[in-house]
Amino acid sequence: MRVLKTTHLKKALQTAISAAHEAGALMRKNLRLPKKINESHQHDIKLDLDVRCQKLIERTLRAAFPELPILGEEGILGEPLSGDRWVVDPIDGTVNFTYGIPHACVSIALQHRRKTARPHDHDDTACETVVGVVYDPFTEELFTAIRGEPAKLNGKAIAVSTHSLLEESIISIGFAKSPESLRVMLPQFNTLVHKVRKIRIMGAAALALVYVAAGRFDAYVEGGVRLWDIAAGGLILECAGGDFFHEPIGTDHTYRIVANNGKLRRKLQNIARGQAGK
Ligand code: IPD
Ligand code: CA
Ligand code: CA
Repeated sequence: MRVLKTTHLKKALQTAISAAHEAGALMRKNLRLPKKINESHQHDIKLDLDVRCQKLIERTLRAAFPELPILGEEGILGEPLSGDRWVVDPIDGTVNFTYGIPHACVSIALQHRRKTARPHDHDDTACETVVGVVYDPFTEELFTAIRGEPAKLNGKAIAVSTHSLLEESIISIGFAKSPESLRVMLPQFNTLVHKVRKIRIMGAAALALVYVAAGRFDAYVEGGVRLWDIAAGGLILECAGGDFFHEPIGTDHTYRIVANNGKLRRKLQNIARGQAGK
């Protein structure tokens, strides 16, 4: 499917919500149960439940939109590099979830490939997110957006905070899985911690983004997130009036992000560049 009509977007939103609820119910059921670990690394775990949640989501998305490909953290269906596509993180915050910490979510985005994209342009920048759903099954908070409309939390419009000073801001930081990301983020942490009201390291990128959208955090900074971590939450943040600054690093859907309420980007980037933020 190359062109998504506006009338498809509402159906897409409802479909993504149903898929997120199904995967979320499975997460809730399993939070305190022993979990089968498929892979374990120093800073990352892959569970059998990651795959099971993705399969549930795929089934629901495919039933409603049989031709739309799916780019998921746990696998790919169809050809997501050439047209419109779903982008899915079935469990964001898997390490939290594995340890029984109820801070994890489902993230589902629908991306539209711009008409101006070249036929073999496999770059993510050829796509823009048009529908975003982030569902936290433990708080039962459902964050949603359709491009051009207000972002919502459980059906009510949300907006970013108005803090413009670092000293009154809560900044969420993510430490991605690679040693390189730790090398980049630790100096930023060391500088920021002295300048802001609080730093929070919560362990679920999509939730950090929607917390900025809802005005709970003022910004979220991470050096190595993947497209499925940020596609849905990024749209929700933009639709809530925020600034979803993200730049690709490499060609494997990896990004550096400075997501913020629209008032803190420059200060945070200065700190990332090693200058003092005022
Ligand atoms: C991870 C979480 C974590 C972030 C990592 C992500 P996963 O996703 O969002 O907070 O720091 O960069 O990869 O592996 O739990 O889906
Ligand atoms: Ca993730
Ligand atoms: Ca995941």
